Amino acid sequence: MFVVVGGTGRVGRQVAAQLRERGLPVRVVTRGLNPAAAPRGAEVARADLADPVSLEPHLLGAQAVFLVWPFTSPEMTAGLAPKVAEIAARHARRIVYLSAQAAADQPGSFWAVVERAIEDSGDSWTFLRPTGFAANTLMWADQIRPGGVVRWPFGAAARALIDERDIAAVAVRALAGDGHDGARYLLSGPAVLTQVEQLAAIGHAIGRELRWQELPRQAALAALAAAWGDPAFAEMALDAWEWFVDHPETVTSAVQDLTGAPARSFADWAAANAAAFR
Ligand SMILES: NC(=O)c1ccc[n+]([C@@H]2O[C@H](COP(=O)([O-])OP(=O)(O)OC[C@H]3O[C@@H](n4cnc5c(N)ncnc54)[C@H](OP(=O)(O)O)[C@@H]3O)[C@@H](O)[C@H]2O)c1
Repeated sequence: MFVVVGGTGRVGRQVAAQLRERGLPVRVVTRGLNPAAAPRGAEVARADLADPVSLEPHLLGAQAVFLVWPFTSPEMTAGLAPKVAEIAARHARRIVYLSAQAAADQPGSFWAVVERAIEDSGDSWTFLRPTGFAANTLMWADQIRPGGVVRWPFGAAARALIDERDIAAVAVRALAGDGHDGARYLLSGPAVLTQVEQLAAIGHAIGRELRWQELPRQAALAALAAAWGDPAFAEMALDAWEWFVDHPETVTSAVQDLTGAPARSFADWAAANAAAFR
């Protein structure tokens, strides 16, 4: 049994679907807010990472567990990570954790703390450290649909956005294949694009000219803190975008190396997700 925590989310749903395509048994763990979002053929189990003991019955007999850490929920503090890792290690033969590129150079970051808890659990592990997700641009959909103008900060922030299907393709290999224990994979899309260029690619995909309107940092902070309910998380996102203006994200060949297929371009992602912006 392959247990996919966050299997109703953007990456986890793809992981669960790709495991099912290989004919492997999958159990999606969700708080049950939207179990219908799990892919067809997957078992759905209810548990809450914020209550680590609730996970335990669903991990019995697990071959491997895919773990996300949804830090946008305020109750999901990194302090819970050792308990979650300990329970996962007791039952699953390996843990594949969806971390982030930031874990590599920010040892105090949330992702690094969760990684250390998993290392300390003594289980086999693989860490996926992706760049920003292409799906993050869905945040602009509510502005694109009515007016075609996106008011957002740091249009020059340059990122190597990765398609969630490619993260999942690597995750499935780490979950179900051998030779990935102890690996920290730096995963990226195939090219760096500024946020302004990402918006142009979305415009191309939907056949409309879209316009970027630079939003000052302070105004963005108020809007994002209100939208996410977490001012500290909004500050962190703004710091990251500001950093990417002068320090573009790194492009790696890991997706191609590990899956044999080139990483999908942002244009591909935008075409596949055009309906969300129309
Ligand atoms: N966005 C980025 O650019 C980026 C970059 C690098 C790494 N990451 C990492 O990616 C992960 C997020 O992945 P994603 O975007 O696929 O997630 P997502 O779409 O935001 O979905 C979150 C998933 O987690 C589940 N979930 C939320 N709170 C939970 C809880 N308390 N207990 C159990 N399950 C819970 C949700 O299911 P229910 O609501 O059904 O419970 C859902 O399946 C995080 O670990 C983040 O650090 C993100």
